[in-house]
Parts: sequence; C-alpha cells; structure tokens
Amino acid sequence: MAETKNEGNGKPVIFSGIQPSGNLTIGNYIGALKNFDQFQNDYECYYCVVDLHSITVRQDAARLRKRTVELTALYMAVGLDPERSTLYVQSHVSAHAELAWILNCYSYMGEMSRMTQFKDKSRKNEENINVGLFTYPVLMAADILLYQTNLVPIGEDQRQHLEICRDIAIRFNNAYSPTFAVPEAYIPKVGARVMSLQEPTSKMSKSDENADNFVAILDPQDVVMRKFKRAVTDSETEVRYDVQAKPGITNLMSIYGAMTGKDMPAIEKEFAGRGYGDFKEAVGVSVAEGLRPVREKYAALVADAPAIEAMLGRCAGRAEQVARKTLTKVQRKVGFLPRPRSM
Ligand code: TYM
Repeated sequence: MAETKNEGNGKPVIFSGIQPSGNLTIGNYIGALKNFDQFQNDYECYYCVVDLHSITVRQDAARLRKRTVELTALYMAVGLDPERSTLYVQSHVSAHAELAWILNCYSYMGEMSRMTQFKDKSRKNEENINVGLFTYPVLMAADILLYQTNLVPIGEDQRQHLEICRDIAIRFNNAYSPTFAVPEAYIPKVGARVMSLQEPTSKMSKSDENADNFVAILDPQDVVMRKFKRAVTDSETEVRYDVQAKPGITNLMSIYGAMTGKDMPAIEKEFAGRGYGDFKEAVGVSVAEGLRPVREKYAALVADAPAIEAMLGRCAGRAEQVARKTLTKVQRKVGFLPRPRSM
C-alpha cells in the first residue's frame, strides 16, 4: 500500500463522508455511494466514516463500533479500493475535531440557525437538541477543508452544508491568505433526493421508524420486491414524470432511472399502457439485481473484521499526514505558538 501517495501528486481531491448510523438506504446509495468509485483513478479520494457526526444523536456504543466496520465494508463492496482511495474513520484523525473548533470561531450563530437540517433534526429530536447538532456543518466543513478538497459528491440534502463550507473557506482565506481550496458540490442529476416510499413528499431516511418507507442497501431481494410493491402511487394509471401531481411515481421513476441509466422520457415510453403493477415490479428488480453484487461482496468483506480494521489503521495514517499539514498552517495563521519539542 502506498502510504504517502497523497502528497503532491497533482490530482484534484475528492472528499465525502457517510454517518455510521442506521441502515444505509438506496437514497444513500443513489445520492452518494454509487458515485464514489468513478473518481478513483482521476482524483485523490478520501472517503470517511463520520462517527463524530453520528453522536449528535444518541448511539449505542457497541452498535456504533460495529456499524463503523460495516460501513467500511460497504464502501469496499461498492468498489472503493483502499490502494487507490483513503478509507478511514473520522475519529481516528484528531485534526478533524481540532480544525472544527477553530472554524467554530469563524462561523456565525445566524448562518448555522438557518440550516434546514438543523431545524428538521431539532424538531424530530426535541429532547436532545445538543450543541453538536448545531455546529454539525462546521465539523463537516473541517472534514472537507483539511484535505484541500476540490469536489464533494453528496446528495441534495447536503447542498446547504457545502455552501456554508465554501463561505467559511472564503472567509478564512480573505481574513489571512489563501489557506483552503474552495470546494464544489457534485450532486447527481437523477436521484439526488430519493423520497420515502410511503410518504413520497419527504426524503427517504435511514433513521425512519417505518421500515416500509425505505429500502436498505442490504435488504434481501424478497424484501426489496415487497417494499416496492407496497410503494404509494396515485389514482391514475399512467407512468409519467410529474413531481407535483405524481410524487410517488416520479420518485420510482428516478430510482429506476438511476439504477438503469434510462432517462425519464424513455421510462415513460417503456411503460406506456402497462399500468403500475408492471412498473413497480421492474423498479424492484432493477434495485434488487443492481445491488446483488454489492450485497455479495459485502457479506464476504464483513466476515473479516480484523482485515478491515488493519486497513483502517493504515489509511488513518495516510489521512493524518495530509490533515496535519493543513491544520498546522491554520494554527500558525491564527497565532498559536508551535508546540516546543520536548527533550
Ligand atoms: P448522511 O450520512 O446523512 O448521508 C450520506 C450521503 O447520502 C446522501 N443521502 C441521500 N441522497 C439522495 N437521497 C436521499 N434520500 C439521501 N439520504 C442521504 C447524503 O446527501 C450524503 O451525501 N453530513 C453528511 C456526512 C458528512 C459529509 C462530510 C459528507 C460529514 N462530513 C463531508 C460530505 C463531506 C451526512 O450526514 O450524510
């Protein structure tokens, strides 16, 4: 493994992260994960398991550890290769938390209060509106900015957080001198916001209590088929793209489009005169079959947790080197006295 390959190889940088909380859904897959491996040859890629973010909601400790390994296995199952991409755990590289603190002091209460995800999560979680939930986007900015990231593949729901990250980077660069690359979002054209199957006007979410609302990446074939069969549609019979009038069918079309590469007019044509039953069946098959290789690879990988952990250790070392370099630069600019060497 090329332990120091990140340094100065001239490739643009990709960073993305996923929380190790809940069952990852086909929303996470289509909006983010599925797009990660295409970048591996042309970009320096960092894919992070963001455990620091996940504790903004209470987690069971043993379960969180297990899910951290499982999410890493899933990263590898979709084709991420630790020889080419740095796959690591956020809490293993302390520079994330350190830079987040500094950036907290360059971020404003007003801009954080406007974040829709904060407002949503506070509403859903009234008994635990912790400060971490509030400054969550600042930690996300630290993640991205530590690696001089150029491009961030994410779903639509993270767009606002990326905007804040850019604002913070520009603010810091202007206050001192160019320190951070200012990143761009990479948001897929189809499937950037996969909606709930039962309530197609809200986002599909891995923390949803009703398991019929989402399809998990690792759901077995029969479960996938059943969930699509039950998906909410409308009283018409026509497969037609119309977000306002037909949110259920439109969502299913987006899922099918993302899984098959077909565009919306082609899908409308394919199912003209065929009714919803056939269509739902086809969507279910496209997901169940499309994810079969992922499920199979995942099962093999997750069976060897020690190998995954060893890899995470190596990758954390690689990430640490790059992150430290940015953090040291930032610490110098804000005026921290470099730590004298101990004798
Ligand atoms: P998280 O863990 O909620 O989701 C991971 C990724 O999945 C995307 N996503 C969706 N895309 C389409 N449709 C959906 N229904 C759907 N649900 C989730 C998300 O947009 C995301 O890309 N804050 C981030 C994690 C994070 C991060 C970062 C991402 C922390 N630091 C730095 C990028 C860069 C989050 O909670 O994602």
